[in-house]
Amino acid sequence: MSTKKMLERVLSARRTAQVGEEGDEDDESKTRKQVLLAMRATNHLTRTGYLLPCLVLGLVVIVVSSLIIHSRDLVCISSPSAFDPVSRMRFFGFDSLESHFGSLGVPWCRPKHGKTVEWTNKDLLKGLEEFVPIYETRPIKNNMYGMGFDHSFGLWYIARWLKPDLMIESGAFKGHSTWVLRQAMPDKPIVSLTPRHPEKYLKKGPAYVDGNCTYFAGKEFVDFGSVNWGSVMKKHGVTDLSRVLIFFDDHQNELKRLKQALKAGFKHLVFEDNYDTGTGDHYSFRQICDQFYIRGGGHSCFKDSDEARIRSRRKKFWDKAVDIEELCGPGEAWWGVKGQMRDDFNHSNKAITYTQHFQNSRFVESVLDVYWELPPVAGPSLTHQTRYDPARVSSPIVEDGRFGLFQRLGLSRLETSVFNGYTQMVHIQISKPES
Ligand SMILES: C[S@@+](CC[C@H](N)C(=O)[O-])C[C@H]1O[C@@H](n2cnc3c(N)ncnc32)[C@H](O)[C@@H]1O
Ligand SMILES: *[C@@H]1O[C@H](CO)[C@@H](O)[C@H](O)[C@H]1NC(C)=O
Ligand SMILES: *[C@@H]1O[C@H](CO)[C@@H](O)[C@H](O)[C@H]1NC(C)=O
Repeated sequence: MSTKKMLERVLSARRTAQVGEEGDEDDESKTRKQVLLAMRATNHLTRTGYLLPCLVLGLVVIVVSSLIIHSRDLVCISSPSAFDPVSRMRFFGFDSLESHFGSLGVPWCRPKHGKTVEWTNKDLLKGLEEFVPIYETRPIKNNMYGMGFDHSFGLWYIARWLKPDLMIESGAFKGHSTWVLRQAMPDKPIVSLTPRHPEKYLKKGPAYVDGNCTYFAGKEFVDFGSVNWGSVMKKHGVTDLSRVLIFFDDHQNELKRLKQALKAGFKHLVFEDNYDTGTGDHYSFRQICDQFYIRGGGHSCFKDSDEARIRSRRKKFWDKAVDIEELCGPGEAWWGVKGQMRDDFNHSNKAITYTQHFQNSRFVESVLDVYWELPPVAGPSLTHQTRYDPARVSSPIVEDGRFGLFQRLGLSRLETSVFNGYTQMVHIQISKPES
């Protein structure tokens, strides 16, 4: 048995013991059979008086096998093969089971009244089953620099759940996200703001131009912050702004976009690139809410700290993980990206003080009703993605070890490259601060 399969076994054995719901009938019935067999064996042994010796033997087997597993883990980390994807998975697997990440964790933004979304992991699994065949019919198969599978699913799922009367997107590129929105809501109008019209891409290859979409593109392009939203709403007969969904994939400072959306009176927003602290080309919610008072938030630039050690270790396994050197700018500034508030694809860069950064998070929390990060669709041992560090994201919808479920959902049919673009896409609901 390959080590990866073994890991998956270990993981799934542990998980089925705890999980068992979520419609994973195969695993569940297997567990039930195993329990039955074990009970029968115990009964037999009790009757024949062999129970005690058998228990002792079982214990010895468990201790020895866990010793073997541990020494493999150690060998693996100190050997050069630690850099191949399989050992990366193994590293991740045992890491996630047997330790928590101390100062590394998953910061989030706290909503005003602690409200959360209505959907559950079960709903998401149902959604995945439905979305995979839809995704397979996408017009743009290779969407490099655009959205991959995880975020496409998230956007589709949120749009379908909220059922908006109007969808607005900022940043369309070749039009993949326009197509995703269209799949979620077949007869609702879309407004798309993007400097280059997606039809321009049609000359060179696949692109998607929607028949029921108002494009503010090319010569008609207007930035989201400069649109006269009152007149656009009137034109579409929208009176209730909570019936509108806005999708931002335009790499602009998310604090700036939040203020613009708030001013226009919008409530439901989705941000595609919610970059982690120290990464990305614009100030994001994830960065803004990375604060000492949040678990997993706040950082230290001290070179001899636990965090420094954890970070440099994890950087070897995950392409986008950042070590202390990358994290910290002049004056030990770790917030945003090296103490800077990036904007507009990193064309603009402004140093902010820690106090400003702190106040930004207080402002965000004062207008936030819901903050929900889309989890990664599946764990890295299933998707084989190597980009984001699983220690800095929430638990995947399909957890590591559940290959049966991964396969049943049709996810194993997809090319692995489509799982590479995950950057904590976030859905937020906002309202003006209470005074
Ligand atoms: C990452 S791409 C969008 C990917 C797309 N949503 C998809 O589904 O693949 C970013 C897009 O934002 C556009 N963009 C640049 N500045 C913008 C702005 N101020 N407002 C809206 N879009 C902008 C770029 O031209 C580019 O098409
Ligand atoms: C376009 O959107 C309008 C408004 O929702 C809808 O009534 C109409 O059926 C749509 N047309 C097409 C071609 O999808
Ligand atoms: C972003 O911009 C800064 C300064 O303008 C530059 O030093 C940095 O290398 C840029 N980062 C990326 C990833 O392009």
